[in-house]
Amino acid sequence: MSEKVCCCGCNKDQQFTELAPVLDKYAAVPGSLITILQKAQDIYGYLSIDAINYISEATGIKPAKIYGVATFYSQFRLKPVGKYLIMLCKGTACHVNGADIIEEAISEHLGIKDGETTKDGLFTLNNVACLGCCSLAPVMMVKSADDDETYGNLTKDSVVQVLDEIRARG
Ligand code: FES
Repeated sequence: MSEKVCCCGCNKDQQFTELAPVLDKYAAVPGSLITILQKAQDIYGYLSIDAINYISEATGIKPAKIYGVATFYSQFRLKPVGKYLIMLCKGTACHVNGADIIEEAISEHLGIKDGETTKDGLFTLNNVACLGCCSLAPVMMVKSADDDETYGNLTKDSVVQVLDEIRARG
């Protein structure tokens, strides 16, 4: 891919170093937009306007269309997420086993609702469908740059304890 310099003078290829190889591989492959967006989100945690524009330049797909796809699918995030992304399972097994109570405890303890990030940028809460470990319901996964940790058989006390332990790590 040729080097791109933004109107402000920054080098977009440097800004999107990790995304460039993804685009080299998929930009010309028809029907690959979702794959590209998934990989971009995996790398940056969310899809920024700059990333959407960069993908548009590489694929020739208009930014409005990419934005439309990104907003249509709930798996995509258009805002930055906290250092720790709490993925709270609201699938059937977790729902039956009290996921709503766990969500309430998280919301009360952190002061955020589904899709929101704490003011200190530490936690984002996202409700998701089945995480694939229903026998441990209710379950949440906490994703960070270092690790993905799964916590099962949650109660409103244990979830608060887990959040406090994570917060103590900083
Ligand atoms: S329903 Fe929650 S892990 Fe399957």
